[in-house]
Amino acid sequence: MPPIETETELISIDPTHPEAAIIERAAAVIRAGGLVAFPTETVYGLGADALNPAAVRRIFAAKGRPAEDPIIVHVASPADLRLVARAVPPLAATLAGRFWPGPLTLVLPRADLVPAEITAGGGTVAVRCPAHPVARALIAAAGTPIGAPSANRFSHTSPTAARHVWEDLHGRIELILDGGPTPVGVESTVLDLTRTPPVLLRPGGVSREELEAVIGPLGLPDEVEDSPAAAPLPSPGLLDRHYAPRTPLWLVTGPDEAIRRRLRREHESAAGRGERIALLIAAEDRPFVVDFPGVVGVAGRLADLESVARDLYRVIRELDAAGVDRILAREFPPAGLGLAIRDRLRRAAERVLEAGEPGQPGA
Ligand code: TXA
Ligand code: MG
Repeated sequence: MPPIETETELISIDPTHPEAAIIERAAAVIRAGGLVAFPTETVYGLGADALNPAAVRRIFAAKGRPAEDPIIVHVASPADLRLVARAVPPLAATLAGRFWPGPLTLVLPRADLVPAEITAGGGTVAVRCPAHPVARALIAAAGTPIGAPSANRFSHTSPTAARHVWEDLHGRIELILDGGPTPVGVESTVLDLTRTPPVLLRPGGVSREELEAVIGPLGLPDEVEDSPAAAPLPSPGLLDRHYAPRTPLWLVTGPDEAIRRRLRREHESAAGRGERIALLIAAEDRPFVVDFPGVVGVAGRLADLESVARDLYRVIRELDAAGVDRILAREFPPAGLGLAIRDRLRRAAERVLEAGEPGQPGA
């Protein structure tokens, strides 16, 4: 189904005390089966009435998203989990009590109320209660759970500002609520509670460490594991390309000094070929590339991975718009939000360059 062409309205809204009249207008669009992009604490979501199959199909059309990829259902309050999940095991209640509202998505058996369009025909549903005041007010005013993927074109970088949504989706959705930059900057953590132990399907805004402190060790799909630096990386063609800029992005992994040496070396050989590259680094890397003549994007500080999460997608989009041939990005440590940052950069990367073990000359 092609997207419905429509004029897109962009309205500013107060992110902490959203104006009731604006919320009511957006809620009316949702109730009428329309599409509204709105800020959550993680990234902007592209919302539709989760219980209206035709509205949900419009989300897929607007994004160009394959129908096999299920959508997260957003509820206004933790108690509404029972509306959309057939069973709420004690573990789900514990996690919702501890982390909701917030950037945690729980996968549970789906209730009959939830249409197959949302779950891609599957028997489970992903549910989250977002913390952002605009998201919560919108869902409550709509009077229905809201299905919302990230508000980007399929496989593209997620939006952390309303202008990113505009770039990707204007002309395809009715309304964008501009509540400023999103405070977390990476998507929610997706945890599958239908398996024992629960499986971390996507690292995100609630860290693995925070979850394990409450419920013990999680199961991890292979690509989430922090593989030792020496382990072979999957061949580039096998990397699930997602969250990607249009410009090829190469990710440089290894110890900090080796990464910095490799960035300089890649730059020198690129310059020799007349190729233009951009760097995506952290503030602490800046002194090591002061003489770099090209575009440099600084995403937060290594000492504060929350700042990296906040900046990451904006900087990727800025570098993508800079008209270079290639983006070289440093990898980030996997602690806390770092695991989500690492996951997204790996999925955005066309290639991963191993900058070598510490102490190896020439690495
Ligand atoms: O932070 C977020 O989660 C944002 C904001 C808008 O809430 N949403 C978001 O949605 O990132 P999306 O569609 O871009 O990513 C949802 C992820 C996808 O990887 C999807 O495959 C997975 O959640 N997912 C959704 N329903 C699922 C289910 N029933 N079982 C397993 N995975 C599911
Ligand atoms: Mg997405």
